[in-house]
Amino acid sequence: MRIFLVAFFLLLTSNATARPVEITEKSFKCLQEMTPVRGFFVDNLLGDLDATVKVAQSAQGGVYPPGSVVQLFPNEVMVKRETGFNPVTKDWEFFELDVDKNGSTIRKRGFADVVNRFGGNCFACHIAAKPQWDLICEQDHGCEKLPIPRSVVNSLQKADPRCSTNTATLWQRFTNWSVRFFTPL
Ligand code: HEC
Repeated sequence: MRIFLVAFFLLLTSNATARPVEITEKSFKCLQEMTPVRGFFVDNLLGDLDATVKVAQSAQGGVYPPGSVVQLFPNEVMVKRETGFNPVTKDWEFFELDVDKNGSTIRKRGFADVVNRFGGNCFACHIAAKPQWDLICEQDHGCEKLPIPRSVVNSLQKADPRCSTNTATLWQRFTNWSVRFFTPL
């Protein structure tokens, strides 16, 4: 009987840790509704936001828990899949979205093969982050820097078209419009 109970308990806990991370277009939301950490935004699709924020805020880095969603731009997303799902990308799945006032459409999703519309491979850049940062680049984790000034990053974040209330300044809206007009975004 005791063995039975132990086996039952193990089954329960192993199920709990292997909860599937289901991702659809509805999984993504306006950046301003996510949790800001320094310059980027996080969420957790399994409801484990505290664990995600803890790693994101750690000065030592760490491994993001399954379900973690990380974004810098409205249309590029990293989602942490189930542990062991893809050892090459450390279980990160990369997404490129189209976003408008109706929400998000998934243009591309995948692992080491996703290329953004500027011709850059997500994984190839992000793998350069030092191991303790779990593929998160920020500005000083070892990745090649993005050729985009911070003010433009802020404008794209503030003018995310999916947000119901737009808090972008006129200048930020203009910057957002210009980037969309003059680039493949
Ligand atoms: C040219 C290299 C490069 C490519 C290609 C690239 N990224 Fe990044 N990405 C970066 C750098 C560098 C940062 C940090 C920028 C900063 O904070 O100023 C970043 C930031 C991010 C962040 C915020 C967390 C972090 O790492 O700082 C996410 C999420 C992200 N990118 C996802 C993607 C996805 C998804 C793709 C592909 C669709 C992609 N990136 C393509 C270099 C790249």
